[in-house]
Amino acid sequence: MTDDPDTVTVVVTAPDGERHELAVERGRFLRDALCEAGLSPYAAATERLNCGGRGLCATCGVRLPDGPPPDHPHDRLAARFGYPRLSCQVAVDRPMRVELVDKRVWGGREDDE
Ligand code: FES
Repeated sequence: MTDDPDTVTVVVTAPDGERHELAVERGRFLRDALCEAGLSPYAAATERLNCGGRGLCATCGVRLPDGPPPDHPHDRLAARFGYPRLSCQVAVDRPMRVELVDKRVWGGREDDE
């Protein structure tokens, strides 16, 4: 928990269950804060091939169990139908929990044992 009024606590759960607590500058976009902390919302293939946070490519999705109300058309649909929200369209203005989505490409090979 942060005591600084200019920062907000964001608790991030990675797909493997590992938890990270970030102190994020109030008003920053969630995508930027996640990337800066090394907790990318992208899949490996879209790490570089994305729209740069313009809300166009839908590759930066995360789950926000108690995030702010959606105000982007994609996010309104996401909230309605239960799919991930665009982290590039979420301004961090309150403490929130973030769940990173496992975005491994299906069809990938298991490690040889
Ligand atoms: S980075 Fe493209 S929609 Fe978020």
